[in-house]
Amino acid sequence: MIEVLVDLGAKNYKIFIGENILSGVENFVTGKALLVTQKNIPCEKIFPYEVALIPDGETSKSLQEAEKIFTRAIECGLDRKSFVIALGGGVVGDLAGFVAATFMRGINLIQIPTTLLAQVDSSVGGKTAVNHALGKNLIGAFHQPRAVFIDLKFLETLPEREIKSGLGEVVKYGVISDEKFFTYLEDNAEKILQRDLKILAHVVKRSCEIKAEVVAADEKESGLRRILNFGHTMAHAIEEETAYKKFRHGEAVAVGMIAAAQISCELGKTSSEKVLRLERLIKRFGMVTNCAGLDADKLYNVTFRDKKTVGGVVNWVLMKNFGEVEICNDVPEAIVKKVFGRLCSIGNWE
Ligand SMILES: NC(=O)c1ccc[n+]([C@@H]2O[C@H](COP(=O)([O-])OP(=O)(O)OC[C@H]3O[C@@H](n4cnc5c(N)ncnc54)[C@H](O)[C@@H]3O)[C@@H](O)[C@H]2O)c1
Ligand SMILES: [Zn+2]
Repeated sequence: MIEVLVDLGAKNYKIFIGENILSGVENFVTGKALLVTQKNIPCEKIFPYEVALIPDGETSKSLQEAEKIFTRAIECGLDRKSFVIALGGGVVGDLAGFVAATFMRGINLIQIPTTLLAQVDSSVGGKTAVNHALGKNLIGAFHQPRAVFIDLKFLETLPEREIKSGLGEVVKYGVISDEKFFTYLEDNAEKILQRDLKILAHVVKRSCEIKAEVVAADEKESGLRRILNFGHTMAHAIEEETAYKKFRHGEAVAVGMIAAAQISCELGKTSSEKVLRLERLIKRFGMVTNCAGLDADKLYNVTFRDKKTVGGVVNWVLMKNFGEVEICNDVPEAIVKKVFGRLCSIGNWE
């Protein structure tokens, strides 16, 4: 089993990565626990805990669903020493995490992420949230888990599209912090798509290490953690413009990374060879590389409504080299619109 430490002083915790590792969960849980999950998540391990089932889909990340779980927690007699266990993708993790963060001012949380996106991203770092009718993730809290158990076996049943969505974030880690990892992804693209769990173990481990490192340096996102937003400025705009229906998060991130790389290139911060290398890997993973059909001007305006926009300034994360990015808050409007225009006009997206 692989272990990755998230070094947050008193809030330290470990990420355990391997196959069939869920028996370890019970050693962690002292006292009562409520397991939050979804019907279609295939878990062979039978846990001796109360279960709260939530419906599938992004709409479950709501205060209404949270309230139902609070009710279950009270009915089950959970107290301040109890645990919430999130078994599922990012939807379950964010919602159950939000409940753990707020129930009795915060109780213990264990994450068992079952999608690639949740394994490499959302289960690590302590961001929890529910959505509001007027915007995504607007109500939330930072609440670190006590442990994260990543069982790679879950990846075997994941729909193809969910694997690709997770790969969007994986590619991001290569760009923001580790060229060697980026090269590893290029060299092993086929095996990754075939879900070779030995290869995926390294992919998940390296992704978690990079996220853990960034989070440890800047838990509450006052500086460095912003680099995790590479590709996300345009991605959030694409997702909002398409009402979160057309693109999986990682797919939007893939297009957004290409946008950020092209903007960097327009500004002379990176070379067109590097942009092409990034586009090539995204294509090899079978992801779309454009958002044809969307309106570039509208997308541009939406970037200013992003939660990450502070005081009307958009902080673009721009790629310089593989493993080296830079935050830039004065990218000229004309350059952003030029690149958005390009990505909105090519290819087909069904
Ligand atoms: N907290 C963070 O830092 C953070 C980071 C990134 C994304 N997120 C959030 O994550 C959410 C998206 O998460 P997601 O992409 O995991 O989607 P998701 O949780 O909706 O899961 C996708 C689908 O896969 C199913 N599923 C899950 N595991 C499965 C398995 N092993 N086998 C078969 N089916 C399985 C789910 O039931 C669901 O239908 C968004 O709400 C996003 O805001 C949070
Ligand atoms: Zn993301």
